[in-house]
Amino acid sequence: MKTKTRSSLISYQPAGQFEETRFEKIHNVIFDTSQQGSIEVAKEISNLIRERASKGQNCVLGLATGSSPIKVYEELVRMHREEGLSFSNVVTFNLDEYYPMEKGNIQSYHYFMHQHLFDHVDIAPGNIHIPDGTVSIEEIKEYCRSYEKKIEEEGGLDFQLLGIGRTGHIGFNEPGSHHNSATRDITLDHITRVDAASAFKGVENVPRKAITMGISTIRNAKRIILLAWGQNKAEVVKATIEGEISSEVPATYLQEHGNATFVMDKEAAAQLTRIDTPWLVGGCSWTEDLTHKAVTWLSMAKAKPILQLTDKDYNDSGMSDLLNLELSSYEINIKTFNRLQHTITGWPGGKPNAADSNRPERAEPTKKRVIIFSPHPDDDVISMGGTFDRLVAQGHEIHIAYQTSGNIAVADHEALKVAEVANSIGETPLFSKVIKDIQAKTGEDFDSELVRKVKGNIRRAESLGATRYFGIPDEQVHFLDLPFYETGAIKKSPLSEKDIAIMNNIIEEVRPHQIFAAGDLADPHGTHRVCLEVLFESLRRLKDEFFMKDCWVWLYRGAWHEWEIHEIEMAVPMSPEQVLRKRKAIFYHQTQKDGVMFQGEDPREFWVRAEERNKETAHKYQTLGLASYAAMEAFVRYHF
Ligand code: F6R
Repeated sequence: MKTKTRSSLISYQPAGQFEETRFEKIHNVIFDTSQQGSIEVAKEISNLIRERASKGQNCVLGLATGSSPIKVYEELVRMHREEGLSFSNVVTFNLDEYYPMEKGNIQSYHYFMHQHLFDHVDIAPGNIHIPDGTVSIEEIKEYCRSYEKKIEEEGGLDFQLLGIGRTGHIGFNEPGSHHNSATRDITLDHITRVDAASAFKGVENVPRKAITMGISTIRNAKRIILLAWGQNKAEVVKATIEGEISSEVPATYLQEHGNATFVMDKEAAAQLTRIDTPWLVGGCSWTEDLTHKAVTWLSMAKAKPILQLTDKDYNDSGMSDLLNLELSSYEINIKTFNRLQHTITGWPGGKPNAADSNRPERAEPTKKRVIIFSPHPDDDVISMGGTFDRLVAQGHEIHIAYQTSGNIAVADHEALKVAEVANSIGETPLFSKVIKDIQAKTGEDFDSELVRKVKGNIRRAESLGATRYFGIPDEQVHFLDLPFYETGAIKKSPLSEKDIAIMNNIIEEVRPHQIFAAGDLADPHGTHRVCLEVLFESLRRLKDEFFMKDCWVWLYRGAWHEWEIHEIEMAVPMSPEQVLRKRKAIFYHQTQKDGVMFQGEDPREFWVRAEERNKETAHKYQTLGLASYAAMEAFVRYHF
């Protein structure tokens, strides 16, 4: 049964009805940003609430937690405050809750829902239902049955909001969940626990179980919208929308729902066939960039150097129309090869006294002022240590600006070590207090301001070790300590004018010819993303200043992903010796070595990840038929 929504950008249509969507089995809509998508979803929800209210009926909403729905809730709260949207006829059922879990615990979904929505709207407390993480083990089965019954008594879910986990879970229906499953307790998948680890300060603190609505509970909702933001979701989104229905990816059960829509941003949709390899779907409009992407893809898919691709290779892979445009594979191959060749430079600050029309950077001015923005105190060396080293060696004036203090990533025992060493030389009340504060801390406590200061200063000292090793004077190392980060907790404050002013100041002070920054879009709420947003805002505000006309911005990728080959606009090769110098610079960040606090899902040390990634980029260039280097760092230019 379909809900009547006013026609909107996300109104349901059957999937796969056009040629370009023929691989797709779930209706989906792609937005430029998660903000835009969230506003459309909030509109649909508010329309439904109002439509029900106008008929004197309740509106029964199934709600999700996690990072995905936060902006939808923000928009609903705004509509309540500014447009009089009332929640007095709204009844809600949340998808899930960790088990066991106290309601007052800040990690609980109970806490989350009140913090993001319920405390700010006029919903009747009796209309709110969230699975209870405190029921006893013996009572769980009965409790779950009663949860299902309550949904039925309210007439079923009119609307269900979902996120998607990287395991393909919806709610906490992990791989293996049956399509007929109802509300029940479930064991969380390891990947799900790893994804939640940073919120719980370590995977060992993440509960092993949860209570979740079942697949059938969700499928019975009259309308379903699933939100997916960011590159981290791209793989599971493709598997869900284009793959076969399978209990291994429980979200694929939504293919059988007649009124489900996925709302995504460009990053989450990036692996859909029509976006990633549109030539496999049907005719495409061949821009220069698309041709470049297609040819590098073809070369890798065929495991053949670009200059050896034949007309047949193109014809076999849906690119015959490209051949018609360009006349022969020979022409296309040469063009693509040259474009890639021109991305490679050992002169990331430009090569003095050399023709530069085919180089990524300008020759002039020969000595450039450069700011390297690093979200945490170590991303500079992890992500672009080789390029950093070269820029110094080639005589440019390099300023390093660490955007955040990175203090929460320092373990207590590191701060304790520093305080105890200081006290062992001469006991001071200050360091005695540091020791006392750390010893008094229990699992959920935030660090005292003093302990945060010690932790932040440890990271400063480590950074200075690395920048001195590369030969940067201390005056050119700037610790910005952006205030949005300084909450002492994993959850950060929103960006404010103070953050922007600090960024503007450093740019105005240095007047750089080059800015390097972390271009991480993978995580919609991660620190890297916020650090990029604040830079973009500063650039927007400063763009008319005379010195900005000469400023080029280069984006590197953080510790997690690398740019795709076809995106790279500057590739800086490294010799085996340079790889070792980079490794040594990373080693100065000792608190981030050997089992760090925020390891993420990748168990490798940061220096290992960096080396393997740089080696892989070099290897890809070699596979495409270009020169063979030990390692390469990659950059994309940002035009503001
Ligand atoms: C939350 C829930 C989960 C999340 C999923 C994605 O109530 O049921 O299925 O929607 O884990 O989480 P985020 O949005 O944090 O990526």
